Amino acid sequence: MSAKIISGVEIAKQIREELKAEVAEMKEKHGVTPGLVTILVGENPASVSYVTAKQKTAHELGFYSVQDNQPADISEDALLSLIKKYNDDSAIHGILVQLPLPKHINETKVLYAIHPDKDVDGFHPVNVGKMVIGEQCFLPCTPHGILEMLMRSGAQTKGAEVVVVGRSNIVGKPIANLMLQKRDGGDATVTICHTRTRDMAFHTRRADILIVAAGRPKVITADMVKEGAVVIDVGVNRIGQTPEGKAILCGDVDFEAIKEKASMITPVPGGVGPMTITMLMKNTVQAARQAAGL
Ligand SMILES: NC(=O)c1ccc[n+]([C@@H]2O[C@H](COP(=O)([O-])OP(=O)(O)OC[C@H]3O[C@@H](n4cnc5c(N)ncnc54)[C@H](OP(=O)(O)O)[C@@H]3O)[C@@H](O)[C@H]2O)c1
Repeated sequence: MSAKIISGVEIAKQIREELKAEVAEMKEKHGVTPGLVTILVGENPASVSYVTAKQKTAHELGFYSVQDNQPADISEDALLSLIKKYNDDSAIHGILVQLPLPKHINETKVLYAIHPDKDVDGFHPVNVGKMVIGEQCFLPCTPHGILEMLMRSGAQTKGAEVVVVGRSNIVGKPIANLMLQKRDGGDATVTICHTRTRDMAFHTRRADILIVAAGRPKVITADMVKEGAVVIDVGVNRIGQTPEGKAILCGDVDFEAIKEKASMITPVPGGVGPMTITMLMKNTVQAARQAAGL
């Protein structure tokens, strides 16, 4: 039987509707408008398109949104001063610096300069630490999106064997940690695989929920997946171009073969991708609520 497709497009749409209503109520009842600034350094085409999509969504949800474009040769000090300016601006609740930054700028220094209360990307060590100990914080957007997809599609996480492929700071490590937390949407037994894992298939075949964030096209084949597993494919790999010049994307799992074996699966595109921006918006609303004491 073919797997149920978990549509990130549909779930993201649902969450955006909820956020839109929440923002309208915050404005009307409390006079609070969530404010988001996206800072873009240089003109990397992929970064321009990500930032444009973030601004468009913020605008649609009724945020106060600022697009701050800076030249590629901005100094590190000038960028740090700019972040300080937004840290001190009470109309701005969320600050996003689009990565990657030019080589002469220390990314870590810049991300750490964002006040943890405005760190809607969830990359500041204060938020990472709070996430690990299970305190209220801004969760990193992609893992947060995966969590919402699992919960809203009714996947059973309690007691489940979850296998995560990939151990990056933005996807693998945080999603593994979230699945481990003692609460709804967590309570799983978690294994993390990476390039030094001796027999990856041994682990992936045990997974009730398999989350793949390796950045390698079709690294997971059908023989590596258990019958009835839930498969979340985070990978976005550009494998070619249409005659019109549009990128052809593929995930980290062999979707066509695995969908005949899994119980639920996310597609690429249209799976985890649309959730990431939406969770950035959710974090910004949360930041505005916290700032206003709501
Ligand atoms: N949809 C979205 O919104 C979204 C967001 C973020 C990322 N992504 C996509 O998700 C993928 C992963 O992103 P990332 O930033 O986490 O990547 P990353 O920083 O490159 O990390 C990849 C991880 O996968 C592991 N890995 C790579 N090849 C492997 C293999 N053959 N077997 C086992 N483990 C392997 C690496 O192991 P080592 O640590 O041993 O090197 C590493 O831990 C990319 O395709 C990215 O574009 C999508």
